[in-house]
This record gives sequence, structure tokens and C-alpha cells, in this order.
Amino acid sequence: MIGILCAMREELEPVLEKVEVTEIIEYARNRFYKAKFQNKNLILAYSKIGKVNSATTATIMIEKFGAKKILFSGVAGAVDADLKIGDLVIATKTCQHDVDLTVFGYDPGFIPESKVYFECDENLNSVAKKVAERLGIKLKEGIIASGDQFIHSKEKKDWIKKTFNAVAIEMEGGAVGCVTWTFDVPFFMLRAISDTAEEGAGVDFDKFLEESSKVSAQFLIEMLKGIDEE
Ligand code: ADE
Repeated sequence: MIGILCAMREELEPVLEKVEVTEIIEYARNRFYKAKFQNKNLILAYSKIGKVNSATTATIMIEKFGAKKILFSGVAGAVDADLKIGDLVIATKTCQHDVDLTVFGYDPGFIPESKVYFECDENLNSVAKKVAERLGIKLKEGIIASGDQFIHSKEKKDWIKKTFNAVAIEMEGGAVGCVTWTFDVPFFMLRAISDTAEEGAGVDFDKFLEESSKVSAQFLIEMLKGIDEE
């Protein structure tokens, strides 16, 4: 079973259009779609925005539906100057930029008995890189930072860049990374850029959410062709 997770309805819909949905299960105030793609069994859902919602949904996919890997598709704000609206980025690692226990001497993002960075699966990342090469698509790779805040300030974005060496920001990856690390489940994080995370980002986000969601979904579907269920 492959888990496909998004945060928002707009991110999931273009994925759902390309798979054969066989069953819809209402559970935990959410809707889970069982589906087939080229004989592979999938469980799909959008979690709603944020770290708590995405952690809950990822946990349900793993514990209730038996997901053996979690693939995330959606949109992100650009941090790296190289990234433009519509560009694709995959995470090498994810982290939580809003975790702050620095008053106790810990690094930003660090929780005792846990860690700052959650590694994404190298095999899944290499499948992504091969797909990008085959299709001639630019694909950036780097750290993606998450927090329960929509970032729309150059100052805040620069702080996240400097502190976590992040290339993009969103609101779920660090939480899903923590869950998948906890359960030892391979994790893949794909995002298409919807905004620059600077002043005015909210306007761009609304304008490009659907378009960038489709870019990410289409790439994920291409990748699915080369991914095993186990
Ligand atoms: N997702 C897309 N753009 C974002 C931003 N600027 N901040 C947080 N999450 C985002």
C-alpha cells in the first residue's frame, strides 16, 4: 500500500483524477480514498493544512491502512532564489522551523529525544531525479522547512534560510517527516512553488495554488509508474 498525502483539496484533486478510486472511507473527520494505479494499491487523502493535521493523517495511513511508504504532493513557498513559481522541488530532509527550545540551550528546531532534520528516502528521490531527467524537467533538491505559519515576509524567510539552510517552506513536511521517522516508513516530499514567501505571497498563493498543484500531481503520477508497493 502506497500512501499519497496532500494538505489541501486543490492539491489532491489532480492526483485523484489520474487513479482509479475503488472505495471512499470516512474516518477521523476525514475522507480516505482507496485506489489502484497500474495494479498498485494506494491510499490517498488530504489532511487539511498544518503540522497536526498532516501528522494525524500520515499516522492513520500507516497504522490503519498499512501504508508502506508516504509520498507527499503539494505547493510551497520559495526560499532559494533559484526557485520560481511552478518549479518543482524535492526534500532531502524536512524540519520544523517553529520549534523553539533555544532557551534551554537546544538548537532551533530540536526536540530532546528527537532531532532537527528528518531524512527523506534516497531511493524515492532517485526515482524522482530519473523522471525529471527523462522528461527534461528542472528539479531542485534541498531542505524543506515547515511551520504552522504562512510565511509572507522577506525577513522571516531569510531567517529560516539562514537557520535551517532551507530551499523551500510549507506547513506539513516536518511533521510528516517526524511521523515517518517514528514508524520507519520511507518518506518522499514533492512540492511545486506557488509563491515567494515574501510580502504579497498570499495573493500569489491564491493565484497559483491550482496550477502549481497540478504540476506537482502530474510529476508524482509519472513517478508512481516506477515505484513498488512494498
Ligand atoms: N505553502 C505555500 N506557500 C507557503 C508559504 N509562503 N508559507 C507557508 N506555507 C506555504
